[in-house]
Formats: sequence, structure tokens, C-alpha cells
Amino acid sequence: MKKAGLIGCGYMGTMHANCYKALGDKVQVVAVADLRAENAKEIADMFGATIYNDAESLIKNADVDFVDICLPTYLHEKYAVMAMRKDFDVFVEKPLCRTKEEAQNLVKVQEETGKTVQVGQVIRFWDEYVWLKDVKEKGTYGKVINGTFKRLSPRPEWAWEGWLHDGEKSGGMALDLHVHDIDYIRYLMGEPKAVKAVGIEEKAGLTEHIITTYIYDDAVLSAEGCWNYPANFRFTMAFCVRFEKATVYHDAGAGEFIVYPADGEPFTPTIDKVDIGTAGSGNISSLGGYYNELEYFVNLLENPSMPQIASLKEGARSVELALDGIEKSIKR
Ligand SMILES: NC(=O)c1ccc[n+]([C@@H]2O[C@H](COP(=O)([O-])OP(=O)(O)OC[C@H]3O[C@@H](n4cnc5c(N)ncnc54)[C@H](O)[C@@H]3O)[C@@H](O)[C@H]2O)c1
Repeated sequence: MKKAGLIGCGYMGTMHANCYKALGDKVQVVAVADLRAENAKEIADMFGATIYNDAESLIKNADVDFVDICLPTYLHEKYAVMAMRKDFDVFVEKPLCRTKEEAQNLVKVQEETGKTVQVGQVIRFWDEYVWLKDVKEKGTYGKVINGTFKRLSPRPEWAWEGWLHDGEKSGGMALDLHVHDIDYIRYLMGEPKAVKAVGIEEKAGLTEHIITTYIYDDAVLSAEGCWNYPANFRFTMAFCVRFEKATVYHDAGAGEFIVYPADGEPFTPTIDKVDIGTAGSGNISSLGGYYNELEYFVNLLENPSMPQIASLKEGARSVELALDGIEKSIKR
């Protein structure tokens, strides 16, 4: 049983707390921290955990095996470094951090300390995307020829003090939301030969719509992200990937997951999903992928020989690629 310290009890901290509850005996949340006392208390009461007023006091004083950092992005590096130096393993939400320099420093500190760090690139653990990676690796339908990935959302309005809409703090949509798909494409296909990105910076420092294209020797994949749709727009998380022998289509909001074989009838693959329900009020409330990634992380701490699926270095590379795309955005 691992002892966890949960830092940041907002939208994502609440998601993670519910996953830890569902993980049962594997993990015990013994410490929680948030500047907002009422948020910290709500989660502490779920576990009988000790409350700390802020991230630093938890890291300095709590007796834990790992910390889970669910803080705004611009705070990730500071507290992940502090935690590794305190000899704690770390789970840190995506995007790994706000800048390339922070990413490089995190890699350096991890190499120095040898701590286990997993980044919350949750799409690598999302059931339909896990299935897609599996059939690609097995060659079930031959090679990938092309693919499109989408993540389109109303403006996320839940963030503490509006930090998501401050480009300095969050990097805006192109780092915060779009990083999911650019990270996943590289996970699926490997390092591309070239990357092209074009986005629109609607307000200073905020690229609100972006399309990134990954070019391989024999395939082209693209991802589109935007979070400036109307409040009643249905959150869209979707992909369409064409293999040599089949096309796979998924739209989470529409509940569609369909394989179109080159010869044969379309069908929906059966996936064994963990159903632990929903939590929170943001754009994604299903806990499945979050549960999968946290279960994997806790198992990784018990069995360090397991392959790392979402390592710190992988998270660092995805931050670099997202920031490169933002630099190329057209200014309005
Ligand atoms: N994986 C996903 O699908 C996903 C979805 C949403 C957010 N996120 C990521 O999770 C992270 C957190 O986002 P969120 O939506 O939960 O934000 P949020 O604003 O809902 O929560 C952040 C919390 O941190 C607390 N906080 C701020 N400074 C603190 C400090 N020094 N010490 C202790 N607590 C402090 C705030 O009071 C707030 O409760 C971000 O990096 C975000 O990008 C990931």
C-alpha cells in the first residue's frame, strides 16, 4: 500500500481523489493540500487525511511515498522538483510544465534523483486509444496511412482565479488541451520526420485554435484543438484513423466507436472498461482513463521493472512540440 499526498484539490484533484477511492487498498491518501481550505477539507474527509495549507508545507512535512500534483501548470515544475529532492516519487498532471526550460530542468532533476515520475498524459490510458495503439502494434489492420484527432471544447470556466485563460500561467489551449492529441500521435507512431503547426492567437499569448500535422515516411496524421466554442457546444474528443485494411472511427461524445473493415461489415469492438462512474463538472467527467493511469502508476511504484508509458521525458517532449506549434501561430 502506497501513501499518497494529493496537491491541488480543484477539478483534477477531485477526479484523482475519486480514482484513489476506487483503487481501494492499493493506495491511501494520507495528506492533501490546497490554498482553498474548503476544497482541501472535502477531499481530506474522503480519506481521513491530514490537511496542509499549501503545496510546500505538504512536501516539507507529510510522510508519503509519492505526491500527485494537480496544481495549475505554471506551478508543476517548482513543486515536482521540491518533491523529487525530498525523495518522493511524483505523478504530475499534464502538461508536464509551462516552458521548455522547466521541462529540461525536470529531466535533469529526475536523472539526479532517480525518482519515478509519471505525467498525466491520460489519453495513453483512455480505453479506445489503448485499443487503437494495440491494433497498430499488432498490425491487425496493416500499417497506418493517415489519421485525424480532434479535441474541441467550450471555454473551460472552472479554473481557480481563471488561471487557464492567462497565457503566462497555462500556455492557453494549445498547451493545455491540444497537448493530449499531439502527445498521443507521437505515442502511436513514434517521432515524426517533420511537424507542421498552424494556429490562431486570438488574444495575446493565447492560441485558441490549432492544427498540428505529423509527417512520417509513409503516413500523415493531424490533430485539431480549440476551446473557444459556445458554452452549449458538445465537448468533442474524436479520431478517425485509416489503416491499410480498415478505418477506425471514434467520437466519445456521440458514443461511437466503429471499425470499418476494407471488406466486411462495420462493427464496434468490445472493450473491457473499468466503470467507476463520473466526478466533477468540467469537460470530461468519466473517470475511466484517470483510474487506468493512476492504477498503472501505483503498480509501477510496486514493480519498477514495468515499462513506463507516460514518462517524464515523454511529457517533456510533448511540451516542446506544443510550444513549437504555439510559436508558429498567426496573430489576429
Ligand atoms: N488530464 C486531464 O484531462 C486534465 C483535465 C483538466 C486539467 N488538467 C490539468 O490538471 C492541472 C490542474 O488543473 P485543474 O483544472 O484541476 O485546476 P483548478 O483550478 O480546478 O485546481 C487547481 C487547484 O490548485 C490550488 N492551488 C493553487 N496554488 C496552490 C498551492 N501553492 N498549494 C496548494 N494548492 C494550490 C487551487 O486552490 C485550486 O484548487 C493542470 O495542469 C491542468 O492542465 C488535466
